[in-house]
Parts: sequence; structure tokens; C-alpha cells
Amino acid sequence: MKTRIAIFVSGGGTNLQALLDAEAAGRIPHGEIALVVSNNPNAYALERARLAGVPGAVISKKECGSQAAFECQIQSVLELGGIDMIILAGFMCILSENFTKKWPNRILNIHPSLIPAFCGEGFYGLKVHEAALERGVKITGATVHFVNEIPDGGPIIAQQAVAVETGDTPETLQRRVMEQAEWILLPQAAEMVSQKLYEERKGK
Ligand code: GRF
Repeated sequence: MKTRIAIFVSGGGTNLQALLDAEAAGRIPHGEIALVVSNNPNAYALERARLAGVPGAVISKKECGSQAAFECQIQSVLELGGIDMIILAGFMCILSENFTKKWPNRILNIHPSLIPAFCGEGFYGLKVHEAALERGVKITGATVHFVNEIPDGGPIIAQQAVAVETGDTPETLQRRVMEQAEWILLPQAAEMVSQKLYEERKGK
């Protein structure tokens, strides 16, 4: 049986789309996108999931009332769905150690810089690209890494460099990093980890 993947989202979901397209094109042969979890009921990513026929679950942190209740609800949805691994694709909530330790080397995140540059608490979305431009780096990129209790601190799985160009704004740089790195790297990493987990299950 394929590795069952849950994708966690909060917004537009272009990385989710790249994963759905890669699966449809046969580029994630050991994995199956089985569930999309959003903390935001208005995330366009949910529409992308619906169009691809993937079940979506909305779990709002505000409605849960506490981090513990939020994570408890996420955990039950994952267990119900028989999920083996999680991909954070633009998920704007921090997960506590209590949650991440239940999924060792089974949660992937994509971060839009070359870790350890421009990462950790406060570095998300456009802020990462603003910081890179402010520092004047000539090369940036994206990193896929495992998630542990340290924000952006888990083992690195894959990285791709992207050139900064004269006249870049945070928006143009964000777009180039997505096109040239994130949308390629994340499906590749999804397959790599899916295959590893698939083989581990087969070996048991
Ligand atoms: C991406 O830049 C990703 O690296 C970051 O959040 C953004 C999500 O974009 N973690 P999208 O929702 O996948 O379009």
C-alpha cells in the first residue's frame, strides 16, 4: 500500500497544487495524497483539494480554544485517515513538541530560503524574501526539511539555490523561488520520503 500523505495548508496552496500535479503525472509513485488539512476555512487550497477529489478537513485553532485541543483534533483526523506522513505546505501554525514527537521524520516542511539563512521564528511568507533582499544576498533558494520542535531546525532533506536579480522585489523573488525551487523540490522530497516509509513497512 502506498504511503498515505496529509498536506497541511493555510492559504493559496500553490505548493499543494505542485504536489497534486506531480502525483497525477506519476511522479510520486510511492505516495498518495489522501487528505488536506487547513486551519483556515477560506483557504483557496481547499478548493484545489476539492477539484482534485481529495478530502479536506478544516480545523480552526480559534474554535478549538487551545493548542492542545487543536493538535488533538488534528491527530484524530490523521488517525481516522490512516495517514503515514505529513507535508506542511504553507501551513501558518506552529506545531508543539507534543505533536511533532508523535511523527518523527514523518513531517516535512518547505521553507523559502537556504536554511540556516533567514529562518526560524518570525521568518515566514514574504518576510523571508524581504530579509534576503535587505541583506543583499545574491543567491537564495528553498529548503525541504523534517520538522521537529525547533522552528525550521529539523534535518535538511533537499535544497535548491535560486539567483536574486537586480530590481527584485519580495514578490518577484518569492515567485522565482517558488517556480525554480519550491514546486520542484517538494514533490521530489515527497516521493523520496514516501518510498522510504513504503520500504520500511514492506520490511516489517
Ligand atoms: C511558500 O512560499 C512556502 O515556502 C511557505 O509559504 C508559502 C506557501 O505558498 N512556507 P502556497 O500556499 O503553497 O501557495
